[in-house]
Amino acid sequence: MALNKADALMDVAIRRSFLIPSSEIYGSPSGFFDYGPVGAAIKRKIENLWRSEFLHKEGFHEIETSLIVPEAVLKASGHAENFADPLVTCSQCKNKFRADHLIEQSENAKKEHVKAAGLPPAQLGELIQKYAVLCPQCKKPTLSDVGWFNMMFRTNIGPIEGNTAYFRPETAQGIFLDFARIVRNYQSKLPIGIGQVGRSARNEISPRQGLIRMREFTQMELEYFFNPKDQSHPKFGKIKHEKLRFASEEGQPQYIEIEKAVHTGLVANEIMAYFLWKVERLYLSCGIPKEKFHFRKMPKEETPHYSKGNIDLEVETSYGLVETVGVAYRTDFDLSSHSKHSGADLSVFVEGEKAKVVPHVVEPSMGVDRLFWCVLEHAFRGKTPEKDWEWFDFPPAIAPYHAWIFPLMKKDGMDEKARQIEENLREEGLTVYYQDSGSIGRRYARADEIGVPYCITVDYDTLDEKSDKHGTVTVRFRNDGKQIRVKIGELSSKIAHFVKEGKVRDD
Ligand code: GAP
Repeated sequence: MALNKADALMDVAIRRSFLIPSSEIYGSPSGFFDYGPVGAAIKRKIENLWRSEFLHKEGFHEIETSLIVPEAVLKASGHAENFADPLVTCSQCKNKFRADHLIEQSENAKKEHVKAAGLPPAQLGELIQKYAVLCPQCKKPTLSDVGWFNMMFRTNIGPIEGNTAYFRPETAQGIFLDFARIVRNYQSKLPIGIGQVGRSARNEISPRQGLIRMREFTQMELEYFFNPKDQSHPKFGKIKHEKLRFASEEGQPQYIEIEKAVHTGLVANEIMAYFLWKVERLYLSCGIPKEKFHFRKMPKEETPHYSKGNIDLEVETSYGLVETVGVAYRTDFDLSSHSKHSGADLSVFVEGEKAKVVPHVVEPSMGVDRLFWCVLEHAFRGKTPEKDWEWFDFPPAIAPYHAWIFPLMKKDGMDEKARQIEENLREEGLTVYYQDSGSIGRRYARADEIGVPYCITVDYDTLDEKSDKHGTVTVRFRNDGKQIRVKIGELSSKIAHFVKEGKVRDD
């Protein structure tokens, strides 16, 4: 049976060392993926792009907080009570399913485009009856009443039972917990930005669609703390006339000027707008075409318990539209609640007001894995008359290697020279990989297959002192296969320049 597009891409991703199903030799429990050497390199570069855009260019702090948090934290944050998905059980086969997904996927409900996400259990139960939703295993109307299932992974700290803790369901909580210490140590004034990249865990009822719904995944989250009396952003003036693409009720998404989006209330304030613009920039840098994603204001029933308003980013993929980013106006929900539950003072002194203020928070939160999958989908290229192989058109800034390096043949000193250049380029900070097996054409194809933007070849001319090409190598561009000759001494600066410029062809 032919694989659908997403399964075919997952197959490529596993064969080419982008991804490895976790615990594969023990049967791979669903919802977990490892990154192979190629995938890990790309993922790290995506995370570093985020650090550059969301932290370094803004002068914000990066921290790293614990994965396991005591129950008290998640009681205060509301996750112990609210972080649950609707669960339904089949009375016959005893399998458990996510109720809203089952309804939306059932034939009868699909015809009427029923939206079940965010509805309370009682209403989901009514929809199951109304659309005669069947157990997907038994194909019978044997589904139980709908209940809640809390998605946090529970554990115990130390050997004495009762010290309940959870794997964090979002990295954000660690930032709220460390906030007061950072403010004190830095004597910070509002606004303050603190972010982190880290793993989160959610015991999803039905993990599915590869990297889209996982049980363990990586988030990149920024918490921007500001005085609620000043909802402006210092850089708003620079971006207010840019346009962002928003979903619209009428059908096709529309480009709306940022200033207008704030004035009409589509976007809550300048701060939210500024971070939507930053999200767009990051997605463009990762090679996701502008017309393949849009922002959507979330309806109240789908907005998380801590948020006064959410704007999500949705990307077109072969799984359909996927939410990959949530920008939330978290207000003082978290800080006030932690302050109340812990007794700690989490306010900041505002000189102009001569008073202490509990800051409000805007949070751009995104999953690395979902973005990684979108990058794969949008960079994947089929065979063409010029290339008899499938390849990836990654922007050089996130490609797994800066370059691969080959000797034309493994003899006459070309291999030693190529090894020497490899070592020098690594010393200069480039990620390069030496390959000498197979024909040169096959090696180019293998590099293309994982999206390496440049191939460097050492040939006879490189070593021939009588040749006018002595001391030079060829650099082949991935996208058009064209080659230029570059002096060995200029290689690292040229490649670094090409990467910075995003140059993928010889024009
Ligand atoms: N701190 C806010 C927060 O966690 P979220 O919308 O639940 O908000 C943010 O998650 C992002 O994390 C999502 O937009 C998505 O990219 C990623 N994410 C959430 N659940 C995920 C899962 N089960 N598998 C993979 N990524 C997930």
